[in-house]
Amino acid sequence: MSSIVVPLVKGLVTEQTMLPRAFALAAVIGAVQPPRLDGNWVVRQPMGDGTSRDSYFTLAQRGDSITGTIRTTQFYYRTVTGAWSADSFAITAVMRDGTSERRATYAGRLVGDTLHLYTRRRPQDPPTELKAVRAAPDEGAYPSRVAPPARHAVRDNGLARTPPMGWNSWNKFAGRVDDAAVRAMADAMAADGMRDAGYVYVNIDDTWEGPRDAQGNITTNRKFPDMKALADYVHAKGLKLGIYSSPGPNTCAGYEGSYRHEAQDARTYAAWGIDYLKYDWCGARNLYTDDEMPAVYQKMGDALLATGRPIVYSLCQYGRLDVWRWGADVGGNLWRTTGDIRDAWDSMTRIGFAQDSLAPFAKPGHWNDPDMLEIGNGGMTADEYRTHLSLWSMLAAPLLAGNDLRSMTPDVRDILLNREVIAIDQDRAGKQGTHAWQQGEQEIWTRELADGARAVALFNRGDAPATMTARWAALGLTSGVRHVRDLWTHQDLAAAPEVSLSVPAHGVALLRVSR
Ligand code: GLA
Repeated sequence: MSSIVVPLVKGLVTEQTMLPRAFALAAVIGAVQPPRLDGNWVVRQPMGDGTSRDSYFTLAQRGDSITGTIRTTQFYYRTVTGAWSADSFAITAVMRDGTSERRATYAGRLVGDTLHLYTRRRPQDPPTELKAVRAAPDEGAYPSRVAPPARHAVRDNGLARTPPMGWNSWNKFAGRVDDAAVRAMADAMAADGMRDAGYVYVNIDDTWEGPRDAQGNITTNRKFPDMKALADYVHAKGLKLGIYSSPGPNTCAGYEGSYRHEAQDARTYAAWGIDYLKYDWCGARNLYTDDEMPAVYQKMGDALLATGRPIVYSLCQYGRLDVWRWGADVGGNLWRTTGDIRDAWDSMTRIGFAQDSLAPFAKPGHWNDPDMLEIGNGGMTADEYRTHLSLWSMLAAPLLAGNDLRSMTPDVRDILLNREVIAIDQDRAGKQGTHAWQQGEQEIWTRELADGARAVALFNRGDAPATMTARWAALGLTSGVRHVRDLWTHQDLAAAPEVSLSVPAHGVALLRVSR
């Protein structure tokens, strides 16, 4: 005999009793008559580009208690618990991601045949209202898991012998990037000296994706009417075009990922004329453990090589599982070492000054990536942006500008186009610089260059200007310092045994010291 669990009288009797179905229904009707939530519900949020971000609430109600799953963008909450109280209900969803746990809570009411759901992104935010309507039972079901491949070493693609340089859409445009913006950036890069200074990749980040066609081919959304034509345009300017995807079913912004279509997508990118892929873990977290990351990334590494087109491969999984130890083996040319940067001094310095121990893992073709540049986005001072570019150059980091290149102030232009600093970043020996000295908030980093010279960066992280002294002998430059050049003032300094400079608050002096 089938039976369901119902609380007998809501609010008064808390214990649950097993009853035959007929009795149970009678009890529900006779008691509080909570409306039925059973089934699959969808919240469709149109993105304005022809796609929608769909969140699925697959719920089961027994009496006052609610269970189920919620799939929203890249997040898949397998555990949902909830309950009715009076005419509304509350549900809590839990997702485990590695060792961390993410929770989402919703309050809701059923009005007619529409679920009205209220949720907050952060506790301090005002509630957002979502409206869910009934969906077919299987719609939006989470895809089944494909076992990751056996590991093998992916052949080096021979690209990125120096850290990649270019521009990426995310920091400035996020979901607003479109074909016109990318063309405008390409125009600016060709016209204003960026390309000639080495910034050649024009990289489209998340939100270009459309649905898959009947053959499973990825398409673009309305913001990108013709990706091949866009690539042709960018190539005609002497630039290269980059794109973005995820090994999961969804990207971070909830767009279509490459899951189960890796080789097909790689062929599509090659056919379009794509030169660079950023591959962002995001939705893959619901299918694979961190330990499986190398195998999952290897799959796309193989797929890109198989196309025969040179495509730089950028791993983005926020530095988990010590990616610097295996990123090169899976075909990666660069790998993010941290979470997302923000256009703020604390974010930039927290990331940049924490990269010291990763130096041994950088080498031509394979780079640590402390995330893209924020220079020119307005959240830092010119001195702070000089620190940003100097530090990234000491780290042999990829230099991907993230600002609007059409409206650069002269200060920002001078920073991004400082060729003497860029030359440190692009030094062909590819040796990442390291922390050499520190006193309080002042630190000196050094980097060995291919011609035997050293880059020496005097960073003042303090809030007041400071006089900093670099003593060559103490920094391991023992014999015959012949030439010292200041790469921000573009002046030669006297080649004494030490140099003292006034360094602005949050600023830097970057020197090239040759023997
Ligand atoms: C993640 C990445 C970012 C950006 C966004 C796009 O947060 O770390 O760099 O690509 O996704 O959704």
